[in-house]
Amino acid sequence: MSDDRVLNPEPEADDLKDELSLRPKFLREYIGQQKVKANLEISIAAARKRGEPLDHVLLFGPPGLGKTTLANIIANEMSAPIRGTSGPALEKPGDLVAIVTNLEQGEALFIDEIHRLPATVEEVLYSAMEDFSVDLVIGQGPAARTVKIEVPRFTLIGATTRAGLLSAPLRARFGIVHRLDFYDFESLAVIVRRSSEILGIRVDRDAADEIARRSRGTPRIANRLLRRVRDFAEVRHQGAVTIPVAREALQMLEVDEYGLDEIDRKFLAAIIERFDGGPVGVNAIASSIAEDRGTIEDLYEPYLIQIGFLQRTPRGRVATRQAYEHLGYPIGRRQPGLW
Ligand code: ADE
Repeated sequence: MSDDRVLNPEPEADDLKDELSLRPKFLREYIGQQKVKANLEISIAAARKRGEPLDHVLLFGPPGLGKTTLANIIANEMSAPIRGTSGPALEKPGDLVAIVTNLEQGEALFIDEIHRLPATVEEVLYSAMEDFSVDLVIGQGPAARTVKIEVPRFTLIGATTRAGLLSAPLRARFGIVHRLDFYDFESLAVIVRRSSEILGIRVDRDAADEIARRSRGTPRIANRLLRRVRDFAEVRHQGAVTIPVAREALQMLEVDEYGLDEIDRKFLAAIIERFDGGPVGVNAIASSIAEDRGTIEDLYEPYLIQIGFLQRTPRGRVATRQAYEHLGYPIGRRQPGLW
């Protein structure tokens, strides 16, 4: 996977400090995702009123939309401490037992990429979530015995890019489940303006709009583009981000009007040129452009589908008329019914 992509929603080390300062700490500062916010406000207020920890929360949706941010906000709003780990980091049941037995009453446990928990660890999580106890095996062989250990009542906050990869029993144990969607343009524009204020960057309103429009509905990308455009404005101009400066910087970054980058375009061009527009299986496209299948499914496809450039059909992926038009391909013979 190309980690140097400007549109990669994973945070980079040098941007991480900025990124953390930009993250809202409370729901009232959180922009967008109105339905999720409204529902969480009620769940949190009700739990607080009863003096109970919040029910377990599952957040799912494409990377960069604020799952980790929301997890931290939930803990803040509950005045609870939070501890974070990830599915792949919990290799053995003992790793999870060590964590849950050390939690405080009411503490939030954030597990990122929860779909990647090993099955043996998932088993332990079931009883921890449901009965607030775990079975610990002591000793080996015939002398082995299990002891039940109570764990404090905690709130699990799980995050995953694809809820479909979660096992049904695990999903069923979350009382609160929310899907984060791509942000609309207005919310992203507000986020860009908020971030530029926090970072002390002078950005004209129409330049902020331009950045928002090209951020593929993803705040983390909006914040990254803002920083790259600031760099450009400082080096090539006098520091202020005006609309010509923003456009020039975004062109240099090869981010087009739809927010697509070189790899998105390569992906669509491969379907059109090598597979006659599709339908084609994702594995075939992945190998033809030398990208990882999971990266394509998590990172590229959701947005291309959202803006109507790609369709997922039972027989494979299809590039739509809009994709042809945007990339400047003539619309030739098509199988009837696909468009
Ligand atoms: N920064 C990143 N995501 C944000 C959001 N949803 N609201 C406010 N600021 C943000």
